[in-house]
This record gives sequence, structure tokens and C-alpha cells, in this order.
Amino acid sequence: MDKDKPGAFAPFAVVEQSPVAKMPAALRFTDAAGLPLAGLTALPALRDELGPQAGDRVFISGGAGGVGTLAIQLAVSMGAEVATTASPRGADLVSSLGAKTVIGYREQKFKDVLRDDDGAFDLTGGQDLLDSFAILKPGTTTVSVTKAPEPTTARRDMGKGPLLAAVFGLLSVKIRREARRHGASYRFLFMHPSGADLAHLAALVDAGEPKPVTDRVFPFEQFADGFSCLEQGCAEGQVVVETWACGGRACWRYGAEEPRRDRSGRSKLVHRTCSSRTCSWRTRSLRWSRDPTFHEPDQPAAAAGEACPDP
Ligand SMILES: NC(=O)c1ccc[n+]([C@@H]2O[C@H](COP(=O)([O-])OP(=O)(O)OC[C@H]3O[C@@H](n4cnc5c(N)ncnc54)[C@H](OP(=O)(O)O)[C@@H]3O)[C@@H](O)[C@H]2O)c1
Repeated sequence: MDKDKPGAFAPFAVVEQSPVAKMPAALRFTDAAGLPLAGLTALPALRDELGPQAGDRVFISGGAGGVGTLAIQLAVSMGAEVATTASPRGADLVSSLGAKTVIGYREQKFKDVLRDDDGAFDLTGGQDLLDSFAILKPGTTTVSVTKAPEPTTARRDMGKGPLLAAVFGLLSVKIRREARRHGASYRFLFMHPSGADLAHLAALVDAGEPKPVTDRVFPFEQFADGFSCLEQGCAEGQVVVETWACGGRACWRYGAEEPRRDRSGRSKLVHRTCSSRTCSWRTRSLRWSRDPTFHEPDQPAAAAGEACPDP
């Protein structure tokens, strides 16, 4: 698989060594799966571009999504004071991740609330991106991953020449003009695959933060439902598709721990095994929890006795 192309849903893939790292020891496969794209987007934006110092105020728009939930935690761990926007559904989540100011974007405009911030990370684009410059101190930056690429994206990040830089310059002319009007600057980033950054993220996760937030896990057979879910904004944090891994006669599903709820409403993780080409549930209780953030998938990923797919 080409490291510069978008990924695939497959139990096995042949990739170059450079973008690969060991997953965090502390995570299940389904949680670890949510880390690379969102983490490799949030980490360079915060560490390399915004670089907040202790006490700096950073605004992150759309903090309840996959990138936002990691970005909030990374910014807080760098000592920043984070403000973010969220729906009522996402407000508790972003607060629990460390956001100090949560603005309900359906009721309020963040530009009416925030002033003199030290940087902004744009995850929602459109008018939010343009408004972000109005809340910044002069000389500071908004980093966006939504739109639009600018000349530095072409030259420095992609190693391209003046032609693409000029095209990106045209695409971002309105945004850069708005940034200049407020004495701020604008940067656009594409996610860049990096084994070194993934290993760094894994070490941070194993040290305790950030913690990936997985909301929904879809079995491979229902991956189209996963995309519909994303399009409808059904989840907070990550939406993950779980794939099968099969070899010889035995097959098993990654992420064998599954959340279930008992009749009294308590949730637990059960261990599922698939072997000899059929699946069975081993209801070994691994953890009991009354954690309100603990979500149960709508449907079990596989029923007991279900045949495993051919390798
Ligand atoms: N450049 C790159 O390489 C790159 C890489 C990764 C992602 N991205 C882009 O980054 C953006 C965020 O990605 P993601 O994976 O975090 O998306 P996501 O998981 O779908 O999350 C988006 C979040 O934004 C919130 N939201 C929706 N409308 C909003 C609004 N008007 N104001 C504030 N929050 C709003 C929603 O939460 P609520 O429940 O609070 O509404 C949702 O959880 C997407 O546009 C994606 O395409 C770019």
C-alpha cells in the first residue's frame, strides 16, 4: 500500500517500514486503530506549528470529533488552556478531556466570547476558520486541516515547486487576507504518515495521555454503516471499522474485547474468540464499570457460532 494514498480496510497490508510503529501496549486494537490519522493530524499542528507554552490560550474548533478529542488532550498536556466548540452532546466529553471553556456552537459564536488567544486549530472550516483570526493576538497563527492549502503547504510540506505554490496561493487568498487583517498568520496542514511520530504518540498514550476516545465500532460487514454514521455526525470521538484476521484454519477478530451490558445496566467487557472457523463468546468478565462514557455498540459484532469468513 502506498503510504501517501488514503488507507484501506484490510486485515493485512504490505506497507513500507517508515510509516509504521508498534501500537501502544495500553490499548485494544479498536482503540489503537483510531490513533494514527487523528494523532498524526493533531500532533504536528500543536507541537510543530502552534507550540503552546504553559498558560497559553489555544482555541480548537469542533473539539468533540476524532481529531479534536486528541488535540484537546495534547494541548492540555503541553500546558495550554483550551477553549473549544461543541454541541450539547459533546460538551461533557470535551470538558472531561480538559477543555476549560466550552462554547455551544448552536447558541453562541466563539468570536463573541474569546479574545487574545495565542493560537487556533481549525477543525470545522468555513466561517469558523475566517472568524478564528479575530480572536487571536497579533503575530499568532491559525492552523487548519479543513481548507484551504496555502503556498507553504506546497513548498515545505509537499516539496513541490512554484506552480503548485501559486495554485495553493490562489485557493487560500481570501483566508490569508483575513489573517493579515488581524495581524495573524495562516497555515494549512495535510496529515503526514510518520513512524517516528506514531511511536512518539504511542509512548505518550502508554504514559497516560492522550487517551483515544472510541465511540462506535462497526464490524467489517457493516463498514458502509460506519460511513453513514460519520456523515450524520452520529458519534463523538472515533468511529472504527473492525476487520477480520484469518490464517489457515483458525481465524479471529482483532479487538476481541467487546462491551456488553447486563440486565441491571452495568457494563462489562467480554472476551470473544474465533477459532476452528467458528466464533464463540467467552463471557469472561474483564472489567465492570458504571462509567457514563462507556458506550455499547448497537449490535454485537458477531453472533455465537457464526462462521468465520474465508481467509
Ligand atoms: N488535512 C488533513 O490531513 C486532515 C486529516 C484529518 C482530518 N481532517 C479534517 O479535519 C476535520 C475534523 O476531522 P475529525 O476526524 O475530527 O471529524 P469528526 O470526527 O467527524 O468530528 C467533527 C466534530 O465536529 C463537531 N462539529 C460539527 N459541526 C460543528 C460546528 N459547526 N462547530 C463546532 N463543532 C462542530 C461535531 O461534534 P458535535 O457533536 O459537538 O457537533 C463532530 O464531532 C474534518 O473536516 C476532516 O476532514 C483533515
